[in-house]
Amino acid sequence: MDTPVLHRLALNESPYPPLPSVREAMQRAVEQAHRYPQFHPDDLTELIAAWCRVTPDRVAVGSGSVGVALQLLRAVVRPGDAVAYAWRTFDAYPLLAAMVGAHPVPVPLSPDGHQDLGALLAALDHRTRVVVLCNPHNPTGSLVTADALSAFLRQVPPHVTVLLDEAYVEFARGTELPDAPALLDAYPNLLVLRTFSKAYGLAALRIGYGLGAAGLVQRIRRQQLPFGINAVATAAVRASLRAERELRLRVDTVVAERERLGRELVSLGWRVRPGHANSVWLAAPDPIDEGAAALADAGVQARHYAGEGLRLTVGSRSANDAVLTALAGVRLRQDASRT
Ligand SMILES: Cc1ncc(COP(=O)(O)O)c(C=O)c1O
Repeated sequence: MDTPVLHRLALNESPYPPLPSVREAMQRAVEQAHRYPQFHPDDLTELIAAWCRVTPDRVAVGSGSVGVALQLLRAVVRPGDAVAYAWRTFDAYPLLAAMVGAHPVPVPLSPDGHQDLGALLAALDHRTRVVVLCNPHNPTGSLVTADALSAFLRQVPPHVTVLLDEAYVEFARGTELPDAPALLDAYPNLLVLRTFSKAYGLAALRIGYGLGAAGLVQRIRRQQLPFGINAVATAAVRASLRAERELRLRVDTVVAERERLGRELVSLGWRVRPGHANSVWLAAPDPIDEGAAALADAGVQARHYAGEGLRLTVGSRSANDAVLTALAGVRLRQDASRT
């Protein structure tokens, strides 16, 4: 019989349920559930624009950031055009490319888990309509620095839209982190993609947004489903933005736990590269397949890419301790089998 799942660490979700103030706002909105939401999600758009300090014509919202990404592809890709992305990446990108009939162009990550910006640039041609960059990257957590991003954007031809997926940006720290929204004036072919699913812990409510030049945003909005953003989710976003300080503290805790997990795993003999998302990435040749089996036995659901890597979402302290115990066991068994 399979071990029951005790800790869900496979989808880079927040370990925290909604704050009481967010729950109350959702409950109030549920009382109006017999009413349609807005035909066009103007309130949500304005809310996000004010919070991001941009004009509303620079904001496109959608059903999760994945929904906004699909709207973008629908807006700019025709069947047979190419969509380039580093591989491995977030599983949705090949699926979204297929949904719009695009030719997928996966470009291998560098051996240290970075998106290979030179190889991505070399893969762009007259057929390419979109290149996806994920920053921080999923699944490796690697970071494209501000300098590297600027150099990349300077070299992308204007007929290619850069989809800069910043789903995990709130978990990144340090001076090298790009200020992507500040680049929008210089690059009308840039869409910065963000979400309320990760740091804001609202994954089930499906709210994401893109920041871009007004012309690009207008094209993306044409792909927005009428009545497509639900009112309960909008209420949750409004309440979350009011509670931003509390939510930021939660993010800080996740970041501190990520660093603790990393340090402890290194002390157990695992090789851990610096990660900037809400996850830790372990890669072959470390014994990741054995690690995945040990985690499953301990009731920990992690994301296992067989023979390649293991992505561990940073969970609650007790979930992270369960990870450490299971992965310490793998090392102990390995050491025992060597002696
Ligand atoms: C890089 C990346 N982008 C986007 C998403 C999806 O986010 P959303 O829930 O906003 O659709 C994920 C989810 O795991 C992700 O890893």
